[in-house]
Amino acid sequence: MFNNKIKNICCIGAGYVGGPTMAVFANHCLNIKITVSDINEKRINAWNDSDISNLPIYEPGLDTLISRSRNKNLFFTTNIKESIAEADLIFLSVNTPTKSKGIGAGKASDLKWVEASARQIAKFSRGHTIVVEKSTLPVRTAKTIEKILSESQEIDENQEKKTFSVLSNPEFLSEGNAINDLERPDRVLIGGEDQSAINLLVDLYLNWVPREKIILTNIWSSELSKLTANAFLAQRISSINAISSLCEATGADIKQVSKAIGMDTRIGNKFLLPGPGFGGSCFQKDILNLVYLCEYYNLHEVAAYWEGVININNWQKDRIFKLIVIKLFGTVFEKKLAILGFSFKANTNDTRNSASIQICKNLIEEGAILSIYDPKVGSNQIDEDLNLPFHKTNSKKNMQWTKTDSIQSAIKDCHAIIILTEWDEFQKIQWESLIKKMKRPAWIFDTRSVVDVSKAEQAGFNVWQIGNYTS
Ligand code: NAD
Ligand code: UGA
Repeated sequence: MFNNKIKNICCIGAGYVGGPTMAVFANHCLNIKITVSDINEKRINAWNDSDISNLPIYEPGLDTLISRSRNKNLFFTTNIKESIAEADLIFLSVNTPTKSKGIGAGKASDLKWVEASARQIAKFSRGHTIVVEKSTLPVRTAKTIEKILSESQEIDENQEKKTFSVLSNPEFLSEGNAINDLERPDRVLIGGEDQSAINLLVDLYLNWVPREKIILTNIWSSELSKLTANAFLAQRISSINAISSLCEATGADIKQVSKAIGMDTRIGNKFLLPGPGFGGSCFQKDILNLVYLCEYYNLHEVAAYWEGVININNWQKDRIFKLIVIKLFGTVFEKKLAILGFSFKANTNDTRNSASIQICKNLIEEGAILSIYDPKVGSNQIDEDLNLPFHKTNSKKNMQWTKTDSIQSAIKDCHAIIILTEWDEFQKIQWESLIKKMKRPAWIFDTRSVVDVSKAEQAGFNVWQIGNYTS
């Protein structure tokens, strides 16, 4: 049993979850020392950069929180050993991507970073340590962590017996809105059995979260609820995207259909925006993980049901790419096309699994020359994501795509503008001024419903908008 208050927290993993989450904890738990540790030195250096605009993650409001608490009660370090040793409570916030090879490749979560972290905790911790799963994990991962911890060396450096409590406390933040989600969560979910450890974690959250928003469950329900929440959210997007294609074929308007169904309180109006297909680091990987679990438990119909959500998502990206080519007279060979938006959604610099990646790759494969503009994504990231066979030294690469610093320079001499992310500035574009710099006929392909179609048409554009009938 462990009855002391928490004085030191360590978070292993300084990524999109670890960084913002600990920034919010630090701002609400002023008497607790919080250390975020990571093996990635470059990332840690960026978190410690005195120029706050160089933080490794772009998230509205994050810079203010970091400026307030960094080097006061919030620290970023690569010294994992020390941060584990002094911690009463450790959040595991490491990456859990889909396995790329071996058993379960393409579906199962790769838990090697979770296991490595558990082994580090087993080795370096002292006394009693509460280990909290923040990463999204397959059901029953807590058992693996417990096994690794319980079979660790039993005595710490101070000759005290090492003990552990494992809790699950999945994170539901959504990127671009992370600070708001963390400050005012819909719910905080804690799964576990050790009541005193649960109470200590609840007490931490009570610094800013009302008690009625904190839900306690058994550990397996907590792990499965996280996968299920993401699967349901992604399912809504695939549903609305599927209907968007039917709208385009029939003359129904997806905005009107979304409004009509969303006003039914049983359906609700959120997550009904059609798009080029969901991206981000988690929806696809978490559904694939769910599919893998179902197959493992011989629930093949259930696995196939959830796999359908991914299939529609892939189909959406593919159909958008194909319709662009078809509308541009069946060929984009050596045509310059402007890509507006590369991140997987607005207000983040994250491009993981962004629909833009697949759509851009396919267009390049067809011979198009892309000029890409995104307010937060840099050319190194785009280069890494597109992963084209040409190397930097090969001048041919520059024929395939360039990154521009403004919308104006992106669209110059283009045949079409393809909007793939819903950045605010794309909604404010004055179309009359742009068309003069483009090749005619000039097209807009709006996959995010941000364009006022009648204004763009008045300016002389041909417009295709998702979920809108065009002859
Ligand atoms: P990320 O890749 O941005 O960050 C993970 C970090 O962990 C990396 O910086 C990596 O270097 C570090 N790391 C890996 N192994 C380590 C080790 N042994 N010791 C120290 N550091 C180590 O990932 P993320 O987006 O922050 O996601 C983390 C987890 O949270 C995943 O399981 C994800 O599914 C889940 N999640 C993510 C989001 C999101 O919006 N990104 C939201 C909710 C939940
Ligand atoms: C999602 C969930 O919303 C979070 O609750 C969860 O914690 C997180 O995954 C995770 O586990 O990583 P995130 O991926 O950051 O958050 O962003 P979302 O807002 O969910 O958007 C995901 C994708 O769906 C984006 O590409 C977005 O453009 C797309 N989307 C979203 C739509 O196409 N339509 C919508 O109506 C909503």
